[in-house]
Amino acid sequence: MTEVVLWGGAGHSRVLRELSLRIGYSVVAVVDNRNIQPPFDGVETLRGLEGLKSWLHRRANSFVTPSYALAIGGGYGRDRLAIAKGLDALGLSHVSLVHPMAMIASDAVLAQGTQVLLGAAVATCVRVGACSIINTRASVDHDCIIGDGVHIGPGATLCGQIEVGDGVFVGAGATVLPRIRIGNDAMIGAGAVVTKDVPAGITVVGVPARRQRDQ
Ligand SMILES: CC(C)(COP(=O)(O)OP(=O)(O)OC[C@H]1O[C@@H](n2cnc3c(N)ncnc32)[C@H](O)[C@@H]1OP(=O)(O)O)[C@@H](O)C(=O)NCCC(=O)NCCS
Repeated sequence: MTEVVLWGGAGHSRVLRELSLRIGYSVVAVVDNRNIQPPFDGVETLRGLEGLKSWLHRRANSFVTPSYALAIGGGYGRDRLAIAKGLDALGLSHVSLVHPMAMIASDAVLAQGTQVLLGAAVATCVRVGACSIINTRASVDHDCIIGDGVHIGPGATLCGQIEVGDGVFVGAGATVLPRIRIGNDAMIGAGAVVTKDVPAGITVVGVPARRQRDQ
């Protein structure tokens, strides 16, 4: 049985626990940097990296080394990447979580730690980078290249041949037209329709998407 430690104890954590159970994995601990109420009965809640380390030390005689998944949603892709580095260094393996009711093309390539949630579609020749989330009902069409630490929000639509840089967050229900390039760490507001390339670090909103005011 694959044992999973979830990093993050808020909403996305509950989604990943449900998915883990569905695919036969067991969530054995939740780690959060904050002092949180235990989110799940019977599952250890640990405080930060130090809490995780001492828990791992306590179970050093166990035959199973747990894997981990990052339960951090929103626009925190860079945080996911940084935390993954720390957990990899502890010798834990980063598990990919793919919902059985997601559609993944046979030639799509998903990097370590990818999450593809309920009803999402990943089409032919798509590549998805490390620590990226393709959230509920999002669709990523043919030949898209998705970077590391990206979050494609619920119901977002990426048409074909789009390039998405590292750390990008595409908000819920946004649509990105074919062949667009989105620079590193850009944010696409919920519901936006992106018709032009988006420079790195910029937030765009609306239909058609424009740079958010005050930027
Ligand atoms: C675009 C976004 C990142 C901006 O966040 P923010 O900087 O905190 O923005 P604010 O809420 O302070 O709003 C600033 C202005 O932008 C407007 N705005 C914010 N989001 C917008 C959106 N998606 N579309 C159009 N306008 C938007 C606000 O109305 C506000 O306008 P005003 O100055 O005229 O009042 C955020 O609103 C968003 O869309 N996030 C995506 C959320 C999401 O999809 N989550 C999925 C979770 S799984």
